[in-house]
Amino acid sequence: MNKHVINAMVILFFAIGNMGFAQVKKSPVAPNYKLLEKIINDAYEQYKDDKTGEVADYIPELAKVDSELFGICVITVDGKVFSVGNVEASFSIQSISKVFTLAMVMEEMGQKAILEKLGAEPTGLPFNSVTAIEQQATRVGNPLVNAGAIATTSLLKGESESQKWKDILAYYSACAGSELFIIQDVYESEAATNGRNQAIARLLDAYGVMYDDPEDAVDLYTRQCSVGITTEQLAAMGATLAADGTNPFTGKKIINPDNIPQILSVMLSCGMYDYSGTWSYLTGLPSKSGVGGGIVSIVPGKGAIAAFSPRVDAAGNSVRAQKAIAYISEQLEVNIFDPQSVGVK
Ligand code: DON
Repeated sequence: MNKHVINAMVILFFAIGNMGFAQVKKSPVAPNYKLLEKIINDAYEQYKDDKTGEVADYIPELAKVDSELFGICVITVDGKVFSVGNVEASFSIQSISKVFTLAMVMEEMGQKAILEKLGAEPTGLPFNSVTAIEQQATRVGNPLVNAGAIATTSLLKGESESQKWKDILAYYSACAGSELFIIQDVYESEAATNGRNQAIARLLDAYGVMYDDPEDAVDLYTRQCSVGITTEQLAAMGATLAADGTNPFTGKKIINPDNIPQILSVMLSCGMYDYSGTWSYLTGLPSKSGVGGGIVSIVPGKGAIAAFSPRVDAAGNSVRAQKAIAYISEQLEVNIFDPQSVGVK
């Protein structure tokens, strides 16, 4: 073999090797690994000593959570994971569950029925407001406040309450791409102290907008709020929404892609309760918070940013999780209303 042929073969060998490497390493939605890592590490460093807010204690078990826990995780639609902090600590999903039960019921009933029966109007009032029920045309307001979420849960189809519960847990697990479990102590604690949610369900029943036995609906809703997740699992659930309903790890299609725009729209207008307008103004990202300290923000077609820190503000949104996500989304320039983020510029 002459020298030129050998040289050409060596070059080809390395070129193919590099192509392989590029295929494994390169992500079309997170092309710059080092930058992404730096941004989430910076967010962690900047806010790790922030003690603002209080751990929610209206559910007694939540008050026992270590308030110092802080985790941040970004997962892209092609399954790349960027984590910092206590991303493996388990906490209760709380109100973030509302998004995924909405996805289940929307699949069963269709978008039109959701709009008619539940609505998509922000209440501008706290998540457990009774006043909102009196004011809103649909009574329940939207599927992401307690009234709307209990009504959503009451719409779930299933031959028994225990079957519906199994379906919920299986659906959430499929969205996370890993098996999820209830945190029994949180469930029992909330079940023993949820008189307000029971009153909300009875009031909705009196208005004819409760579609199951009110007690059963509240019990199921309380169970779904008590599901334990880690920050990484939360980011994976968010990435499933970002990836048009397909879990980036298992490749399974879980959420109907036709319903994603409607789900994200409700998250944008109602996902951060009576702070949703300001949050949207600041980040331009459909998001959902839970009083357990988790927040997940969706960057459609790209990925999800999740953060967990137990201290929450007056609206019930985690303080450090908000700050971390706002910082990361600004650095990544992923505001969905920025023409650049949809490729116009
Ligand atoms: O029903 C409740 O009050 C709780 N299970 C959930 C509330 C919640 O997460 C509000 N979040 N920010």
